[in-house]
Amino acid sequence: MKILVATEKPFAAAAVNGIKDIAQKAGHEVVLLEKYTDKAQLLEAVADVDAMIVRSDKVTAEVVAAAPQLKIVVRAGAGFDNLDLPACTEKGIVAMNTPGQNSNAVAELALAMMIFMSRNQFTPGTGMELKGKKVGIQAYGNVGRLVAEKAKALGMEVMAFDPFVPAEKMVAEGVTPAETLEQMYEQCNFISLHIPAIPATIGSINYDLVSRMPKGGCLVNTARKEVINEPELVKVLSDRPDLKYVTDVAAAIQAELNEKFPKQVFATPKKMGAETAEANINAGLAAAQQICDYFATGCTKFQLNK
Ligand code: 3PG
Repeated sequence: MKILVATEKPFAAAAVNGIKDIAQKAGHEVVLLEKYTDKAQLLEAVADVDAMIVRSDKVTAEVVAAAPQLKIVVRAGAGFDNLDLPACTEKGIVAMNTPGQNSNAVAELALAMMIFMSRNQFTPGTGMELKGKKVGIQAYGNVGRLVAEKAKALGMEVMAFDPFVPAEKMVAEGVTPAETLEQMYEQCNFISLHIPAIPATIGSINYDLVSRMPKGGCLVNTARKEVINEPELVKVLSDRPDLKYVTDVAAAIQAELNEKFPKQVFATPKKMGAETAEANINAGLAAAQQICDYFATGCTKFQLNK
């Protein structure tokens, strides 16, 4: 079978080698499309492939239609808002992600961003320590739990809100379950977002929530830009010059935010949460293995469109 690795933002070389190794040992061929700049290149590359590994690359209905032999697509990573699942289902294509494989890298970045903002973006001036401060984790999944673990190691208090995780589990892990999201925003110096971009969350981080944060509060977004209500973020940062917003997923209006709120806002130039050799290797190799297992045994363990 022919497996395409289509990565506008390429994997580290070690991950690519590992993917090739796994695929070739199972008798498959790997072709690479890296750093492509035009959708047409992707449409051409998928024309004769049986499987596909992507990162945040968009697998749209158009891509699926251009790939008549495609049987499986694996998003090497957690968030799968870049996959058109109904389009895959309609063509009988199995879609998977690799949950948990890049979580540690994202969690480390979330903590790094908290420190960066607490130390005035590494510019001169008096900063603040994380020790003794309270962080609220919005969605206690793979990344959220690792942020909680690392925050506790730094001496932070941790609260979490996740309607899908039993409170007892949080308590057993030393995390205080928030009764409501509003309560968490009111009580936490930092809020770390780990929610997916789905209809229920898109635009949900709004003025009402963020303005509840205590003085000097900092909102940390290593999730998706779509969850932020951007016009309301502008309003809250303007009304509350003490609040900060740090993000790994630049806003649609990032240039405006940077210009209006240089001391309050920071965005990484390109999403870098999963940009570690370890995360690339973990997610890339898992994706390759899932494809090989699917072709060998029909295993659909991580299928998203069941
Ligand atoms: C994910 O959902 O796994 C992360 O956002 C990483 O995305 P990336 O592979 O594009 O870096």
